[in-house]
Amino acid sequence: MKRFASLLIVFLLTFRVAYPVEGMWLPLLLEQLNEPEMKSMGMRISAEDIYSINKSSLKDAILLFGRGCTAEIISDEGLILTNHHCGYGQIQRHSSLENDYLTTGFWAMDRSQELPNPGLSVTLLVRMEDVTRRALEGVTPDMSEKAREEKIRANIAGIEKEAVEGTHYNARVRPFYYGNEYYLFVTETYNDVRLVGAPPSNIGKFGGDTDNWMWPRHTGDFSLFRIYVNKNNEPADYSPDNVPYRPKSHLPISLKGAEKGDFTFVFGYPGTTQEYLPSFAVEMITAHENPPAIRLRGKRLDIFDNYMNQSDLVRIQYSAKHAGVANYWKKMIGENRGIKRLDAISKKQQLEQGFMQWASATPERSARYGRIIPEFETIYNRLTELSVDETYLIEGALGIEAMRFAYAFGRLAGAAKDKSKDGAETEKIIAQLKQAAEGFFKNYHAPLDQRVFAAMMQDWFAHQETVRMPAGLVKASIPYGTNYDRWASDAFSRSIFANEAATMDLLNGFKSRHARHIENDPLYLLARDVYQHYFEHLQPEMEKLYARRDSLQRIYMLGLMEYQPNRRFYPDANSTLRVSYGQVDDYYPRDAVHYRHYTTLEGIIEKEDPEIYDYVIEPRLKELYRQRDYGRYAAPDGTMRIAFIASNHTTGGNSGSPVLNADGHLIGVNFDRNWEGTMSDLMYDPDQCRNISLDIRYCLFIIDKMAGAGHLVQEMTIIE
Ligand code: ARG
Ligand code: ASP
Repeated sequence: MKRFASLLIVFLLTFRVAYPVEGMWLPLLLEQLNEPEMKSMGMRISAEDIYSINKSSLKDAILLFGRGCTAEIISDEGLILTNHHCGYGQIQRHSSLENDYLTTGFWAMDRSQELPNPGLSVTLLVRMEDVTRRALEGVTPDMSEKAREEKIRANIAGIEKEAVEGTHYNARVRPFYYGNEYYLFVTETYNDVRLVGAPPSNIGKFGGDTDNWMWPRHTGDFSLFRIYVNKNNEPADYSPDNVPYRPKSHLPISLKGAEKGDFTFVFGYPGTTQEYLPSFAVEMITAHENPPAIRLRGKRLDIFDNYMNQSDLVRIQYSAKHAGVANYWKKMIGENRGIKRLDAISKKQQLEQGFMQWASATPERSARYGRIIPEFETIYNRLTELSVDETYLIEGALGIEAMRFAYAFGRLAGAAKDKSKDGAETEKIIAQLKQAAEGFFKNYHAPLDQRVFAAMMQDWFAHQETVRMPAGLVKASIPYGTNYDRWASDAFSRSIFANEAATMDLLNGFKSRHARHIENDPLYLLARDVYQHYFEHLQPEMEKLYARRDSLQRIYMLGLMEYQPNRRFYPDANSTLRVSYGQVDDYYPRDAVHYRHYTTLEGIIEKEDPEIYDYVIEPRLKELYRQRDYGRYAAPDGTMRIAFIASNHTTGGNSGSPVLNADGHLIGVNFDRNWEGTMSDLMYDPDQCRNISLDIRYCLFIIDKMAGAGHLVQEMTIIE
């Protein structure tokens, strides 16, 4: 009997139940909220090792990269690691037909070859702090929403100013739980960030948009950069005299890999989630906004593909644009399927019913929460109509590149006609527009855009009532009937702004009287109409509805917390530093189908197709495969592991985030989610939601064995 009992205990201890943990948690609160659970899941370090302001901790190695990704410091000489798709814009900007780094890859063989990237910066978190009490000082329940906002804004300004006085830091206070809590973030930004290495696209983007958002995945999605600073190790603008940054902390790298059930966590900058929306909002997004957006993007992508397949120049010009459009196109498709499969809307409705019942139980609750759900319904009914209109403007009209570009010239026409302004103002605008034009035309192909114009207009007129469209645009279409190709060809041949030479002529010889050339330009006129329609007919009403909705959402959030006192609420992602944790885990995407938790190089060989751009294999990689020459980067079973999945709750912005093991060692780089799980921004499903990470061993193998850039691996701290 006794033996049986002790056996049972051993069994219970070794057979850890795998429980995925939903949520993206604040590093500051880990110790209080999550540490026990993280440890019970296998974590061997402490919350303080992850985030501390008293000693160096992992947080000192985590960066916000550019505007929307994460990166991590992996050497004591400021070497940083992120995704290939995060560094894509930079790699593309350094690429030309002669030096096509997108295709061939790029490796700096010494420091002098590392390439500066004007405009790119990375940001470190110095500290964060709960400032709810001060932010809400003087706020009373009976205040109008506007007065409340003003009060909070003034409070926040004071907190931010005080936080950085006498330093070169930046401070921002951000709302959490829809304005029920406020946190201060003090940060330090580095502006001299140089490109160090990137694999060729047939590794870094292997599988391309075809495999994007999918598991099984075989993408070597990484790139390397380095932070440079002045001689005092402080942030500085680019200078040839700058030196590599010496960080407080960098991530050690483990070659031990991860197997099913192993604890992992992701430390990074998730962008946006909306987990606490009412059912009406989820319905608006999935049933009304996503479908036209998906359709319009699909049409643009077909046109992109067509032209990109015909010309290498267009392929380079449009690669980043294509990736951007394709990414959210596919995400929305997955999200809609996931929401349907989860039956998320009825789940939300059930919750709302329970909430209303609970609210009606006492007069106090009913006064505070009783009207929320019906009011949400009224607001979202109207908001849905307006946001469909807005979707057509953004995804349709502004999908036409020349329209967006032409609109910027309105300022020039305005300044030229304004007698009160002197010529200096006009000159300034001209200089700015010249710069914009240079950037625009470098990556612009007018015949492609003209096709997009015809397709967008055709779709818009086919699906929307004309009373809901910009009046001037509808009028302009009349002479063409349904011949959208003819309209497009007329507009593009007569417009200045789809033509580089004409645009430059206008700017170079600009005189005030030329304002009318802008104001009579067909694409400019259409663009002005589109924007005016937005500013006059949509925006004012939407802002009012948003304000009302936001205040309802704030009270609803509070109500939910009261209604479900035992539920652990995490704040929605808002591009602040978070920790997600879970376990390496497989899943069952559909009836009878099982997906293992890792992929191998064999899978790349399986996918090979020399006819399809996304599935061409790098010859050198094939060579290494033939020889099975993986060195110390092989898994214990002799395979080369490419990617793995785990149940960490992540979202856009988490790309490039380090995936760490129980010891806080780097084992992977997060780069995506599985398609079945993309609805996790609206509702998380532990059975289906997985984050996809590059196995760090494949990354090092590529750097070392394939690219021959072993000097970079030498810089890192490797744990074998
Ligand atoms: N889906 C990933 C994320 O949202 C990767 C996107 C880049 N890759 C691509 N093929 N477009 O960012
Ligand atoms: N691929 C996304 C990113 O770039 C990550 C995700 O949405 O899961 O941040």
